[in-house]
Amino acid sequence: MTSEKKLEPMPDFHFKCMMWLYKLADPIWNPRRHIKKIPIKEGMVVVDYGCGPGRFTIPAAKLVGRQGRVFAVDIHPLAIKVVKEKAARKSLTNIETMLLDSYNTGIKGSSVDLILLIDALHMITDHHALFREMHRLLKQDGIIFMDAEHMKKSRAVDIVESTGLFTIVERRGKDMLVAPKAER
Ligand SMILES: C[S@@+](CC[C@H](N)C(=O)[O-])C[C@H]1O[C@@H](n2cnc3c(N)ncnc32)[C@H](O)[C@@H]1O
Repeated sequence: MTSEKKLEPMPDFHFKCMMWLYKLADPIWNPRRHIKKIPIKEGMVVVDYGCGPGRFTIPAAKLVGRQGRVFAVDIHPLAIKVVKEKAARKSLTNIETMLLDSYNTGIKGSSVDLILLIDALHMITDHHALFREMHRLLKQDGIIFMDAEHMKKSRAVDIVESTGLFTIVERRGKDMLVAPKAER
């Protein structure tokens, strides 16, 4: 069943704490190094789902280059504000920010090569709605790179498999590559 209720962002204070935690952790757990594990190529259309403060949006935008595009989507206004500021500071014109209040992104169907769902699955309240939307967005040979942060790996696997829409094609630790099933 589709979730009709508007999605509620976390309180601003929590979002700011999260940004500080990332600032502390990122010199050790470097997102730029982490992104090397992601099959991202020049020219790709990428959706950074639950982009937060853009830890992955910015490196992804640099990697896809001018021919590519990154949609940075989030339900939190601060996420959108921070990503816009970072993109402007770095003169990145290939990032489109989108503030959502539902699982409908409004992005054209079958147009996306890669979806990043990083450190976000644990915050999703309606898994079926999210995975249905991601299935709609992806090209047939598109892929999701996701992780199982803040949950057991087996729980993330169960969530993906219960949707019936995706196949897990690769697992590396808590990271997974997930491909859409052909049935549309
Ligand atoms: C823990 S942060 C991770 C941010 C980013 N992916 C990273 O790894 O740096 C999770 C983000 O997902 C966003 N979020 C939660 N539910 C969402 C939803 N249904 N749609 C889009 N974004 C969502 C939150 O607002 C938050 O910014």
